[in-house]
Order: sequence, then structure tokens, then C-alpha cells
Amino acid sequence: MRWSRPKSKNLWRFDGSTRPAMSSEPAIAAARVPRHLAVIMDGNGRWAERRRRPRVIGHRAGARAVNVCIDFCLDQGIEALTLFAFSSENWGRPEEEVGALMKLFLGALEREVDELDRRGVRVRFIGERERFADAIRKQMASAEDRTRANTRLHLTIAASYGGRWDIAQAARSLAQDVAAGRLAAEDIDEYAIGARTCLAELPAPDLFIRTGGETRISNFLLWQLAYTELWFTDLLWPELDAATLQRAMDDYAGRQRRFGLTGAQVAPAPSRLPATKETSE
Ligand code: FPP
Repeated sequence: MRWSRPKSKNLWRFDGSTRPAMSSEPAIAAARVPRHLAVIMDGNGRWAERRRRPRVIGHRAGARAVNVCIDFCLDQGIEALTLFAFSSENWGRPEEEVGALMKLFLGALEREVDELDRRGVRVRFIGERERFADAIRKQMASAEDRTRANTRLHLTIAASYGGRWDIAQAARSLAQDVAAGRLAAEDIDEYAIGARTCLAELPAPDLFIRTGGETRISNFLLWQLAYTELWFTDLLWPELDAATLQRAMDDYAGRQRRFGLTGAQVAPAPSRLPATKETSE
């Protein structure tokens, strides 16, 4: 299965899926299962503190919950999962915690990639990669290369990522093209910006989940979440289970996505009555 951007500006096509291709955002209003799920995994530190354990123990437990989430997506046929693992701002945490998180990322990359590959998961990273140590960057590149051909689940890990950084790097890239004469300033529109943000090759997330009780977006996918359905839970990330994810799915399935249109415009058209002798004549 492959995502491809068709010629028409806001139409997305998904080849190889058993579900109908996305023809436009309103057309997916009736979708019951999100195709793209984005998650802020919050509450690791509090989970550990409540147990009087160091925060790093919470992050380790959080890494196990990542597997719960991936398993769920694979079971449900969710096609893309984007996880916020480390924000641009997280570099400012105490050195000890940042160091422990880096060790955890490296360990997880070394340990999990074979299994992810075996299960058909494509792994990618978004964010300021230059800020990571060489060993981590190498593991990231190797995980991406190794899983490049996989199509069952597109797993994106946002690491050293910030939504503002994402928009700024897109703007910088456009400005460079204008300065070099490759692009006319008049041609810069929301599609041109979107095409240079991270995740440009995926449709926008349908559902955003944040654990840990906070109800904010915290500089996650600012551009991409414009019409995403938001779902929050007080549950701490290490406590994540399939039942909680299912509650989010059920809630999502009951929502009407209007994308700025009216309810009538996005409601599925009533199915035609079967032709009877009277109506067919
Ligand atoms: C937020 O909880 C979580 C993080 C900053 C780190 C997320 C990392 C993991 C889930 C583990 C590894 C991930 C991968 C992809 C291998 P917090 O520390 O802010 O929690 P708090 O709000 O309770 O303090």
C-alpha cells in the first residue's frame, strides 16, 4: 500500500487499500476507523513519581506502552501512527533525564527494529536529527533503510520535533527556492507550505490522542492537526491498554467531521431505493 499525492491539490489517494481511496477530506467524514493516528505520550514521569521511583523508570514503562499502541494499530488496520517521543523543548530537561531518554531510544531502536520489520511496519523519524548523537542518528537511518519497503503501518517517531520548527523549516525551504529563482512568491499557498512540512506524504492525522490529563497540543503537529479530531484521557501513558484506545476509536466513530462544511453537505447520500415495477417505469 502506498500513499501518493494526486495532481488535484487536496485529494489524496491510497493505493492498495481495501477501503475506497480518499477522494477529498469531506469524503472521509464517514470513515469509522482513523487512518492516521497521532499521539502525545504524556505521564511517564508522574507514573514513576507516584511509585516513588526515578522518572526514567516511567519512561521505560512508557516504551512498553508504545508496543501496546503499535499492536492496536496493526490489529485495527490503522495505516499510519505518529508518536511524539521527544519535543524540541524536552532538550531543556535535566541532563540526567535527557541522557536516560537517549539511552532508552538507542536501546529501543536496537531491540525493536527486527520485530517491526517482520510485522511490516515502516519506521521514520521527523525532527531536528542533527541534535542527536551520531550513534542515535545512525540507528535512525538504519531503521528507516531497513523498513523502507514495508507498508502495513507507517510509524513516524517525532523526536527533537516541534510544530513551530516544522513550519519554520518549510518556510525556509520555500524562501531558498524563491531566492534561487526556482519558485515564484505568488505560487506560495497552503499546499506549497504543507508539501514541505514533515509528514507531507501522509494524509493529515484523523485522530489525536493525548494521555496524562493535559488538554493541549504542546507544539506537536501544529500545521497537520488543523482538522484532526482531538481526544484526551487522564490515564498516564504507561497505563495505556487496548480498552482505552478502543474508547477513543468509539468516540471518533461517533463524530461527524465537517471540515468547515455543513452537516448536510458531509452526510452520506441516502441510498437509492431498489427499482420496483412502479419506480422503474
Ligand atoms: C512525556 O511524559 C514523555 C516523554 C517526554 C518521553 C516519551 C518517551 C517514551 C514514551 C519512551 C520511549 C519512546 C520510544 C518511541 C521508544 P513526561 O515525562 O512529560 O511525563 P510527566 O508529564 O508525568 O512528567
